Amino acid sequence: MSEDWRNGGFGLYVHWPFCASKCPYCDFNSHVAVTIDQGRWLAAYVAEIARAAAETPGRVLGSLFFGGGTPSLMAPEVVAGVIDAARAAWPLANDIEITLEANPGSVERGRFQAYADAGVNRLSMGVQALDDADLRRLGRMHTVAEARAAFDVARGCFGRVSFDLIYARQDQSREAWRRELREALSMAVDHLSLYQLTVEDGTVFGARAAAGKLRGLPDDDLAADMYMETQDICADHGMPAYEVSNHAAPGSESRHNLVYWRQGDWIGIGPGAHGRVTLKGQRWATEAPRAPGAWLAAVDAGFGEAPRVVVPQDEQATEYLLMSLRLAEGMDLGRYARLAGRELDARAIDALRGMGFVETDGNRLRVTPAGRPVLNAILRALA
Ligand SMILES: C[S@@+](CC[C@H](N)C(=O)[O-])C[C@H]1O[C@@H](n2cnc3c(N)ncnc32)[C@H](O)[C@@H]1O
Ligand code: SF4
Repeated sequence: MSEDWRNGGFGLYVHWPFCASKCPYCDFNSHVAVTIDQGRWLAAYVAEIARAAAETPGRVLGSLFFGGGTPSLMAPEVVAGVIDAARAAWPLANDIEITLEANPGSVERGRFQAYADAGVNRLSMGVQALDDADLRRLGRMHTVAEARAAFDVARGCFGRVSFDLIYARQDQSREAWRRELREALSMAVDHLSLYQLTVEDGTVFGARAAAGKLRGLPDDDLAADMYMETQDICADHGMPAYEVSNHAAPGSESRHNLVYWRQGDWIGIGPGAHGRVTLKGQRWATEAPRAPGAWLAAVDAGFGEAPRVVVPQDEQATEYLLMSLRLAEGMDLGRYARLAGRELDARAIDALRGMGFVETDGNRLRVTPAGRPVLNAILRALA
């Protein structure tokens, strides 16, 4: 029971908090800095990995993810040093997945090859749009041609590549998105992340929307139609959704993200990084200081985290429900019952099944394609 995390595996997330410029829609923990002392960052990551490893000796590391921010701004020596530190800290799975996020504006063939030589075997690129006018509106610093060229470089260097697109953009018609998605699928190798544009508070887009100046966004009906069509077109191309916004050819799912959705344990290192770690049967939620300077100072003081909090078992059950139903594979009802100390409400399941929103298969509960657009309502009904 206390070792429930074993159902989801063990991963390491490393947050790189810097970008060349701040995109107006983005509320990730990313900052624009004039100078970055890469050596200092490497030393801090290495110290934090050693600290985490001392608590979790002998765990087999199944995935390592460099997320950001823009990790393709990391010096290859920093990436190599982090991977070496992870190797010294834990036994690595033979088939470990090591992913790095890249921005097409910061791509250089030599650097990509150096990441690959260091052990990165999967690249995830923020392409965002295959339309130059829309890239400008999204505040992106690259063109479609540059993104395509960067993607070709990535395909030459890494065994697995994925890219992100944002849809339901300003003034985007269904027809235009269908065309763009088909074009993307003709480029995509085995994995695509497709996000609907969300207007986040505290961003430039958030302020513009509040002032009534962010025009041409789709209404809920149009956005839902775009979502449904996205599911169909991707499935027809052999890239079904394995999670709400993530599509892959079978077997090419992002193993790292599966650790989150299957509620494994992961160590989160770097500014603002979250983690979940089970120690002596107790599951802890960890979080690091968000500001880069505050995080470095905390690491210098010996502990690059905010105070930890215990995740009680009923909360673990709720987290498992909320995360696993995002996945096409759904959830294990027995696992839920062991965590919650009671079965999931059978009447709620029956009612949702009657509406065609969920299906059960032995001990598994899944959200159907018809249920996916109303996932949040389903989760509310079950939780
Ligand atoms: C850390 S970024 C990826 C790497 C790199 N920073 C970049 O932008 O190219 C993660 C992804 O989140 C998505 N994203 C960020 N903010 C979003 C928003 N407000 N709405 C929808 N998608 C968003 C983008 O697709 C982005 O590629
Ligand atoms: S979308 Fe990517 S490049 Fe743009 S600010 Fe966010 S993390 Fe940085």
